[in-house]
Amino acid sequence: MKTESNNQRGAWGSRLAFILAASGSAVGLGNIWKFPYIVGENGGGAFVLVYLVCVLVIGAPIMLAEFTLGRKTNLNPVGAFDQIKPKSPWIGIGFMGVLAGFLILSFYGVVGGWTFAYVVKSITGSVLAFSSPKEAGEFFGSFIANTGEVLFYHALFMGACVGIVIRGVHGGIEKACNILMPMLAAILFLLMIRSLTLDGAMEGVAFYLRPDFGKINTNVVLIALGQAFFSLSLGMGAMITYGSYLSDKEDLTSCTLYVVMFDTLIALLVGMVIFPAVFAMGLEPAEGPGLVFSVLPTVFAGMPLGQGVAIIFFILLAIAAITSGISLLEVVVAYFIDQRGWERKRAVPVISLIIFALGVPSGLSFGMMADVKLFGMNFFDNVDNIASNYLLPIGGLLTAIFVSWVWGTKNIHLEIEKHDNKPNFFWARSWEFLIRYITPIAIGIVFITKVFR
Ligand code: PHE
Repeated sequence: MKTESNNQRGAWGSRLAFILAASGSAVGLGNIWKFPYIVGENGGGAFVLVYLVCVLVIGAPIMLAEFTLGRKTNLNPVGAFDQIKPKSPWIGIGFMGVLAGFLILSFYGVVGGWTFAYVVKSITGSVLAFSSPKEAGEFFGSFIANTGEVLFYHALFMGACVGIVIRGVHGGIEKACNILMPMLAAILFLLMIRSLTLDGAMEGVAFYLRPDFGKINTNVVLIALGQAFFSLSLGMGAMITYGSYLSDKEDLTSCTLYVVMFDTLIALLVGMVIFPAVFAMGLEPAEGPGLVFSVLPTVFAGMPLGQGVAIIFFILLAIAAITSGISLLEVVVAYFIDQRGWERKRAVPVISLIIFALGVPSGLSFGMMADVKLFGMNFFDNVDNIASNYLLPIGGLLTAIFVSWVWGTKNIHLEIEKHDNKPNFFWARSWEFLIRYITPIAIGIVFITKVFR
């Protein structure tokens, strides 16, 4: 019985493949599109600092917890909680994760579509026709208001995710991540050098790296926390699902460290590309979701071989988005395969279609539905806010409590130390302390101060 479901489930080919796939999930639009614009909106360096603390104290321990849960149970998030504490309310964390997967992919697919469009538009050269970021921003604004175009590329993005996820873990997801992640890092590095050598770049570096503590308030902390979860793909079981395809002989602690480091480095690198350019070009850092799409085309337009670099960059951005999109889809798909007995071939297209439909109002949020507001935000921002700033941190909080207090750190040690993997003693102890006390208390405090502020 188990073997049959395992055939449907699949497995990673190697440890490196796992690390790259998990990094592929983590590194995505969260790092390249979202991180710079929320740093810009929330005060620069101070936000970056709070973000880094969240990653270390909250993100890394939860990632290890999710990997461990996944590998122990070989199941999707719902099945994982159910197997460890059968018939208990803890299974709700799994359902929340599947719901978060639905919601996040619905708007993620829209932005993924924008990146596809920018690949095409840099090949035709239309995004490179501007010498000021203001004009490039207006071009972007009119593009995302164009219903037909936005929905077309949105559908294309979802189609690409379907094409990969339907082939399963080893053949599809793994192959896609292996070459692309290292390439992305290389091109960002190149762009950083370009950005730093622009006139007036240093002002941007100062905004980005020099913290102004007056700018930290509870809202900033909540957003930084939400971003840490979003960027590391935590709090919704994506890492449980990816861990479930991992073989017993791999060392979970080092995998966690690599993925966290890689994701954080890419985000920091992107900031070093964007902010020097923003300031050098006299643009506002608090530009919002259009930031990357208006700043970078102007940088490309003004550099030698700019069009080639633009094409490569947007292709990589699109790919980074796909490798994350597939992990969101995989969570929902794995649930239907493991718990509901669906076949992969059926689960993938049916679920994707529903998610696409749910994403349509998000796609229209900058055009036809721009005036439809709830809580002062458009549909797109509402879905993002509910999923990233509430569902993920609450899912993470409950996962931390579940793993350390219900399942128990003893059992976790057994799983981590399987096959003689002896993780570094210091790291194992500090992890245990973090996940038991610091992680849940920190998330709790952020929420309590947010509610009673
Ligand atoms: N981490 C991804 C990114 O940064 C988004 C994501 C969130 C993926 C949650 C899976 C789960 O783009």
